[in-house]
Amino acid sequence: MAAYQFIDHEYDAVVVGAGGAGLRATFGMVAAGLKTACVTKVFPTRSHTVAAQGGIGAALGNMAEDSWQWHMYDTVKGSDWLGDQDAIEYMCREAIPAVHELEHYGVPFSRTADGKIYQRPFGGHMRNYGEAPVQRACAAADRTGHAILHTLYQQSLKHKAEFFVEYFALDLIMDPNTGECRGVVALDMETGQLHRFKAHQTVLATGGYGRAFFSCTSAHTCTGDGNGMAARAGLPLQDHEFVQFHPTGIYGSGCLITEGARGEGGYLTNSAGERFMERYAPNAKDLASRDVVSRSMTMEIREGRGVGRENDHIFLHLEHLGPDVLHARLPGITETAKIFAGVDATKEPIPVLPTVHYNMGGIPTNYMGEVLRPTKDNPDATCGGLMAVGECACVSVHGANRLGTNSLLDLVVFGRAAAHRAAELIKPGTKHKPWTESSGQNSLDRLDRVRNASGSLRVADIRLEMQKAMQRDAAVYRTTKSLAEGVENIKTVATKLPDMKITDRSLIFNTDLIEALELENLMACAAATMVSADARKESRGAQAHEDFPDRDDENWMKHTLAYVDDTYNVTLDYRPVHTFTLTDEVEYIEPKARVY
Ligand code: FUM
Repeated sequence: MAAYQFIDHEYDAVVVGAGGAGLRATFGMVAAGLKTACVTKVFPTRSHTVAAQGGIGAALGNMAEDSWQWHMYDTVKGSDWLGDQDAIEYMCREAIPAVHELEHYGVPFSRTADGKIYQRPFGGHMRNYGEAPVQRACAAADRTGHAILHTLYQQSLKHKAEFFVEYFALDLIMDPNTGECRGVVALDMETGQLHRFKAHQTVLATGGYGRAFFSCTSAHTCTGDGNGMAARAGLPLQDHEFVQFHPTGIYGSGCLITEGARGEGGYLTNSAGERFMERYAPNAKDLASRDVVSRSMTMEIREGRGVGRENDHIFLHLEHLGPDVLHARLPGITETAKIFAGVDATKEPIPVLPTVHYNMGGIPTNYMGEVLRPTKDNPDATCGGLMAVGECACVSVHGANRLGTNSLLDLVVFGRAAAHRAAELIKPGTKHKPWTESSGQNSLDRLDRVRNASGSLRVADIRLEMQKAMQRDAAVYRTTKSLAEGVENIKTVATKLPDMKITDRSLIFNTDLIEALELENLMACAAATMVSADARKESRGAQAHEDFPDRDDENWMKHTLAYVDDTYNVTLDYRPVHTFTLTDEVEYIEPKARVY
């Protein structure tokens, strides 16, 4: 093996990822007096949070009466009763101060005539325990993620947070004796230099793994890097079978058209020009939750009522809203429709199709951001020294289906919660426990193996085969047959990884190498998703199983834990859903049939 050398660093905390959750955790920790580094593979303001459009959910009640208890009810119902109710209570209650905090940090929210934060309706958000849609999505036009990300980065600069930009995190450093996390190894992509970060708390904030699928709204950087690192450290991946399809990805390109478009009055039609959502969700109609709308669209297409030459998509109408509303409230997607669909949204409908958008599953954590390593005796046992926040984590507040706007909310609420928890756990400047001789060696071995891979298959070809299998076999509707085939197909693709070919052997901005390392992370995510989905014999939220069309609370109201080994074999276990609240200000919400 070539001689690799580490540059070592010591911090109280190190955060991996600089999207909304990573930045909120980073400057929260710095503000608490902790020496904190943020390691990120892209420049912070290029993180995928920038792409979030429609809003951040909080029951501010600026437009009409609202309450965080209603928000909690909607989130539990949206999750199809797989969400942990203590964590959901925490998120919905904290949403209000978290959004006010963002306002004070300078997020340029859109405003009402009397100067309050503008709020729009969004799917599944209702007033008075499911009565009718409520305006709860706090919006900055249709660029809310962009506005929040830039503000959080400014706050990080104000707090003088230390950034390691374009550093690709390779692996966690785990204590072989205690199983605790002691830091992380990262590759400086510009120089090829390897770095070891020693930390009392390592926080994974690496985002989702949408790129395991062929068509998604996720950035190319969404490669499940934190999930891959956690899996290699022997930690489980929770509820990976629940993958959200956003109803309105642009047909062909998959670019996101915000649900805020339907919040502002947009609607879907089939080839007969019918507003078909009235049949599937008579109350909420086009503002039902995403799993419901995506399934309804798929049914329309399957039954021959799709639009276009091949009857394979649906129309989203905004033209009736008029140029003024589109310009003021939805300028970004009006431009996106022009560029990616060649459509003038002020005059004609946008062709759309359900597109992979979000991973409800991830690294299991509690509501304070601490990563769980469940044991037989304690399903909520924590893994010392390790936290996860944002889309890579599964708190679980989204359960089997996330409501729109609860993702930006999750980022800021749990980024903030992790900072608070780290401040409780770490006394600034505490001496570090020593590393062992071999700390980081696993990363070097992996890096060297991948860098010198001299098989016969290109990374892009293996990745494409994986993405096509995921898209085909873990789709909006799943069957026993599609899932069994999916498990075999992903297994077959995974066996091709050792035959991978890297053509660039350098360490300087070697994108061939980085994509290969990312592919290993994606493969762990794909394997966990497919095997977990195959095992779950029910329909719940985003898992629509045609051979088991009903939710089965008796047998399946539990979180899946998928352990993925080095050859992508998956072993499953389960842990109970939290059927308790955090305080007695709210009562446990009993499961019931989910209708919109
Ligand atoms: O439709 C959207 O604007 C997406 C929001 C979300 O995923 O929360």
